Amino acid sequence: MNTLVVFYSLEGNTKIIADILTEELDSDCIELKPDKEIPKGGLTKFFWGGKSVLFHEKPDLVNDLPDMDEYDTIFIGTPIWASSYAPPIASFLDKVSIKNKKLAFFACHAGGGADKCFDKLKSALSENTVIGTITFTDPAKEEKDKIKASVKHWLHEIT
Ligand SMILES: Cc1cc2nc3c(=O)[nH]c(=O)nc-3n(C[C@H](O)[C@H](O)[C@H](O)COP(=O)(O)O)c2cc1C
Repeated sequence: MNTLVVFYSLEGNTKIIADILTEELDSDCIELKPDKEIPKGGLTKFFWGGKSVLFHEKPDLVNDLPDMDEYDTIFIGTPIWASSYAPPIASFLDKVSIKNKKLAFFACHAGGGADKCFDKLKSALSENTVIGTITFTDPAKEEKDKIKASVKHWLHEIT
């Protein structure tokens, strides 16, 4: 099984999950980076990030993306932004062709919106099979061992 973990993380929460997955799966991993990152601090991130989602922006990515046909299973991770996936994920989906794959989605949020986000990902990637989804509430604030155990339990269920 050839597996890819691909994710975006503004403030490190989604990266925590992606790193655990990459280690447990011994997979390739791509951290998507927009060429211009929105400001992280304070409330301005909600303004710029929210605007970017609402206007369906697809920021340029600095990443070189491999051919998705190298993989049969792809884990896609995102923070929830305005009940959707973050714009760099939209850029990724626009740049690659993903068909007939097994997909798993992981998302981090501060309280809600993951169901809508997963529905959007499922409809954008409808020619694939979704094997599982998981969410975390700001895992950077949680105990690392607890988070790792949840990820491992989920992997055991879906793989
Ligand atoms: C622009 C923006 C919009 C957000 N929208 C939501 C939301 O709709 N629902 C929610 O629960 N959290 C929302 N959040 C909070 C993040 O999803 C949450 O803090 C997440 O863990 C951040 O992941 P990261 O550290 O990987 O960037 C939003 C954060 C930002 C910056």
